[in-house]
Amino acid sequence: MSTDALQSELLARIYAADTLDALEAVRLAALGKAGQITQLMKSLGGLQPEERLAVAPAYQALRETVSAALEARKADLGRAALTARLEAERIDMSLPPAPPLAGSVHPISQVMDELSEIFADLGFAVAEGPEIESDWHNFTALNIPPEHPARAMHDTFYATPAEGGERMVLRTHTSPVQIRTMMAEKPPIRIIAPGRVYRSDSDATHTPMFHQVEGLVIDRGIHLGHLKWTLETFVKAFFEVDDVTLRLRPSYFPFTEPGVEVDVGCSWENGTLKIGGTSSWMEILGAGMVHRRVLENCGLDPAEWQGFAFGCGIDRLAMLKYGMTDLRAFFDADLRWLKHFGFASLDVPTLSAGVGA
Ligand code: PHE
Repeated sequence: MSTDALQSELLARIYAADTLDALEAVRLAALGKAGQITQLMKSLGGLQPEERLAVAPAYQALRETVSAALEARKADLGRAALTARLEAERIDMSLPPAPPLAGSVHPISQVMDELSEIFADLGFAVAEGPEIESDWHNFTALNIPPEHPARAMHDTFYATPAEGGERMVLRTHTSPVQIRTMMAEKPPIRIIAPGRVYRSDSDATHTPMFHQVEGLVIDRGIHLGHLKWTLETFVKAFFEVDDVTLRLRPSYFPFTEPGVEVDVGCSWENGTLKIGGTSSWMEILGAGMVHRRVLENCGLDPAEWQGFAFGCGIDRLAMLKYGMTDLRAFFDADLRWLKHFGFASLDVPTLSAGVGA
């Protein structure tokens, strides 16, 4: 067969191959050990020099043309195979999940979603920070220098520092997110930061890991009145009660001045606690005006910018709203508890529908 005829035949077979396996078979037939082109190349060795000069360029050209055609066809078939696979494995994320739905949303996640919804409506963004935090962000920048007695109040889990490295802690509160936000963004700032925090403490009302939500507002002319209104608005929306009275008691946090503890008016009815009225008081969070030294540590001028911050235990909020009695049950992963207290996964809290109703 002439090289031209062989080339036409091989090219035809290459274009006819419709799978990568079929193409590989053609490649072996042409260029494999016993392939037709390989045989031609081998035959050159037995020719006289003039004969060889006469046919070798045609054989070379044949080998190059066929190799290039194989490559091109291989790329085409590869693309086609990928397209077919993407088509076959396509998932329509907009379809509703097929019942029955096994899992449920944990009350903590539910309450975090409710908080985000309520504060988003007030113009707050959700901020985050790392749970393994630097000593500086967790303490020093918050006006709690080394050896400050307030450090002892926190029962901190310390990590062993790397050689010459910074000492890291498991964050003991969400307040370091205040620092990270003030350093990363320009005021005005309105954020909440829900998340996990850690303290070396464990009994019926304390677990070594629990959840807080931090709130931070920085703007010009911010005062305690703004804090009180914001907290009242939040508590009314969260507990879905209009008759809410808050009581601010002076307190001390190194990163606030002044600092307050906030109680919500409540009453006991047949052994259960109801939010509303003023016959009883329940402490729900710590708050205050951001200390000028904290502002300075974040590069903000306290003469221009003021702000308030609050920090609130999410687990406690969930217990109060949904009537759980033992904090430890939150983290036992008991399916019966999760079934009883969990939320349907498609029930996204919205203000218009009443959060968590
Ligand atoms: N970080 C404080 C705590 O964990 C709570 C707090 C936050 C108090 C912000 C005042 C302002 O106890």
